[in-house]
Amino acid sequence: MKILAIESSCDETSAAVIEDGTKIISNVISSSKDLHEKTGGIIPEIAAREQVKCIIPVIQEALNKLDLEEGLSNDRKYLNLINKHIDSLAITIGPGLIGSLLVGIETAKTIAFVTGKPIIPVNHIFAHIYANFLLEQIPQFPALALVVSGGHTELFLLNSHQQIKWLGGTLDDAAGECFDKTARILGLGFPGGPAIATEAEEFRKQSTHTLQLTTHNKIRLPRPMIDDESFNFSFSGLKTAVLREVKNLQTTQQLNNGAMEQLKHKSNYPLNKLTIQQLSYEIEESITDVLVDKTLRAAQKYCVKSILVGGGVAANRRLTEKFNQQSAINNQQFKLYVPPPLLCTDNAAYIGSFAYFHNSPVPWQEIKAVPDLEVEV
Ligand code: KG4
Ligand code: ZN
Repeated sequence: MKILAIESSCDETSAAVIEDGTKIISNVISSSKDLHEKTGGIIPEIAAREQVKCIIPVIQEALNKLDLEEGLSNDRKYLNLINKHIDSLAITIGPGLIGSLLVGIETAKTIAFVTGKPIIPVNHIFAHIYANFLLEQIPQFPALALVVSGGHTELFLLNSHQQIKWLGGTLDDAAGECFDKTARILGLGFPGGPAIATEAEEFRKQSTHTLQLTTHNKIRLPRPMIDDESFNFSFSGLKTAVLREVKNLQTTQQLNNGAMEQLKHKSNYPLNKLTIQQLSYEIEESITDVLVDKTLRAAQKYCVKSILVGGGVAANRRLTEKFNQQSAINNQQFKLYVPPPLLCTDNAAYIGSFAYFHNSPVPWQEIKAVPDLEVEV
């Protein structure tokens, strides 16, 4: 079964053709990230305007992989390809930005109307988990899923594709949001996650050359809710702690040090480069400590066979490293799945995989954007 999946919930526009929920035939992604880098965050109207421009070319490019016959280059080429090869459509209906969601949804509905193909509505957050069903080995149930993205930090228990139980989530800011907001405080680029990870890596390299991290790294940030019994998270306190730390450090450095260095984007709190790297290191350590600790505790409690990590923050290398280290120390018996970075951040491939395993089409007239679609089931 081949599904044409479309994703446009945030600043990415993506279309993919997925076979039997596990094989990627094509996965085309267009991002307006560069435009948002200038403003240090996503401006919804700019994202949607860019998506209107690129949605059709992105879908066409995804379909081109199906064009195995020479000479199929008339006006109806793409409708012919859909009619001939595609069994069903899949579309993200939420959560996400209303303008962005509508671009994908209205396009998908039009294709469904014209071709008569069934259309499957998809919850973007659940779908992030399914990037792990596009890897070499199919995960086994029961599985624990950690979805860590720009807007969500959620833990789910999957006993089967149909039995997904929400265990907990963030009470305030998401992990990705914390990376983005603290990166902004430090004057680093957008998105903040990769920017913080790069600075943290620099600090790690320097520290191994000079002193041990433990003595060298004097800045210590909190690990919010790490000892809390529940599977909930909270990251807004970490952002406040960074702000407080930065203000203190700035005052000290201004007194001690004339040369202030600001990085790529102007920060309101100019600090020297080493301090920015040191803070980035501690932010990454704090967020990953909490995520790994809670996830492994849940894995142990529910005796799962697999841990599935998904969402943009899953692209963080330190997170995977820590999962591997900690599970080895605790001698835990599960297999860890982490998709390659391109499948962690937003793309239509996992939308198509989710739709295959949750194949519940609805009439196109009933498909609507739900910007605040829930995940608590
Ligand atoms: O899943 P995603 O692409 O979009 C949403 O659905 O939100 O996630 C985007 C988030 C951003 O907050 C970004 O800073 C974070 O994922 N991110 C990372 C990394 N790459 C992206 N966070 C930490 N380390 C990374 N390497
Ligand atoms: Zn996402």
